[in-house]
Amino acid sequence: MTVVKLGGSIITDKGVDFSYRDEAVRSIGRAIASTGEKVVIVHGGGSFGHPIAKKFHLSSSKPRRSSEGVSETRRAMFDLDARVCDSLLAAGLEPYAFSPYPLLAQAGRKGSAWLRAMLVAGLTPVTFGDVVHSKEGFRIISGDTISLSLCESLGATRCIFVMDVDGILDRDGKVISTLDEEDANRLMGLTSSDATGGIALKVKEALKMAASGTEVAFVSGFRPRELSKALKRVRFHGTIVRVPSRD
Ligand code: ATP
Ligand code: IPE
Repeated sequence: MTVVKLGGSIITDKGVDFSYRDEAVRSIGRAIASTGEKVVIVHGGGSFGHPIAKKFHLSSSKPRRSSEGVSETRRAMFDLDARVCDSLLAAGLEPYAFSPYPLLAQAGRKGSAWLRAMLVAGLTPVTFGDVVHSKEGFRIISGDTISLSLCESLGATRCIFVMDVDGILDRDGKVISTLDEEDANRLMGLTSSDATGGIALKVKEALKMAASGTEVAFVSGFRPRELSKALKRVRFHGTIVRVPSRD
């Protein structure tokens, strides 16, 4: 079983608010369908969720007491999710959309039994970055964090981050084919202006996944053939995260 995170940068054009990339998502969907792999899809907010979250100062790091903007942000995410599901359906998959909150609230393998049942039935569960509430208030939970939690509760073999670049890039813009902790630390200095922490958070979550036994890959969604290879676990153009040794 594989968790596929579709980054906001591939499913939307982050430079233009509410710009959805139908053709890119369809070709990703076709790549997934052609491998026949059991996949759970998580997508980000891109130019739908982030501009609204930003407008209302909603973020993953600082919870807000006020519920202002929660409905608007979720409305944008459900709108984006409907488009993603339409593209996947057109690509031959049978998406089953769900909000991640109830699943996260009752984490653990038991809570995800219904999700396994969906996979067995041949459906492709689809979820997304969302707004959640805790004691401290409302905050955004990123698709990356949801992916990590799904990998743990489902015991996923692999998590593939699909984005608009060929993999994790070094400071010279070259793809790091095998990323280890040292590379990750070097990337931590890079900053981001979106609601959920950007590439540094992504790499941090990836290392956590790798440490708990899930293989992690980064690949471009503009290269569906490379995505197919990553799904089939054969050599592909992109980044693989090296599992830190346990000794
Ligand atoms: P963000 O974290 O910006 O919200 P996202 O969740 O949309 O991104 P992805 O779609 O997975 O993430 O893509 C990662 C984005 O981070 C890409 O758009 C890429 O341009 C940008 N990026 C910044 N620094 C790097 C880096 N060192 N390696 C790879 N991508 C990087
Ligand atoms: C953001 O999810 C969700 C909201 C803004 C509500 P992500 O943080 O996973 O989105 P991307 O992938 O970076 O766009």
